[in-house]
Amino acid sequence: MKWDPSLDIGIPAIDRQHRELLDHIVSILIDSESRSITESLNFMQGYMQQHFAYEEEMQNKYGYPKIEEHVQSHRDFFFILSQLEDDYRINGEGILLMLRIMQTLINWFLEHIAYQDKLFGDYLKSLDPRPDILTT
Ligand SMILES: [Fe+2]
Ligand SMILES: [Fe+2]
Repeated sequence: MKWDPSLDIGIPAIDRQHRELLDHIVSILIDSESRSITESLNFMQGYMQQHFAYEEEMQNKYGYPKIEEHVQSHRDFFFILSQLEDDYRINGEGILLMLRIMQTLINWFLEHIAYQDKLFGDYLKSLDPRPDILTT
């Protein structure tokens, strides 16, 4: 699917991961017939863990002053995911739950990119000298 440049935060490696993540979310939605909710949630969890670990590693490396707030926001995501899993355990699988999962993930993700991740991008751009990560 065509990318929307307004989602870019200006850190190429992280922008690439965001594109991949959103592509995966869309493909889970399109392909929901062939994948169970558990499989989709596990997949999202694994993928997000890697992505968050990378962002947090970079924030550590470049001394990002708002790292604690950012890490907390990543933790919130796993809390939301665990609530959706509980919901699934209690109510079972169904199209409404699948749509709610996707809606929740997409909303969280877009809001997090537009605010938290963008702040980190802006911080890196304010550094002098400009860090290598902005051009690789
Ligand atoms: Fe983040
Ligand atoms: Fe991110």
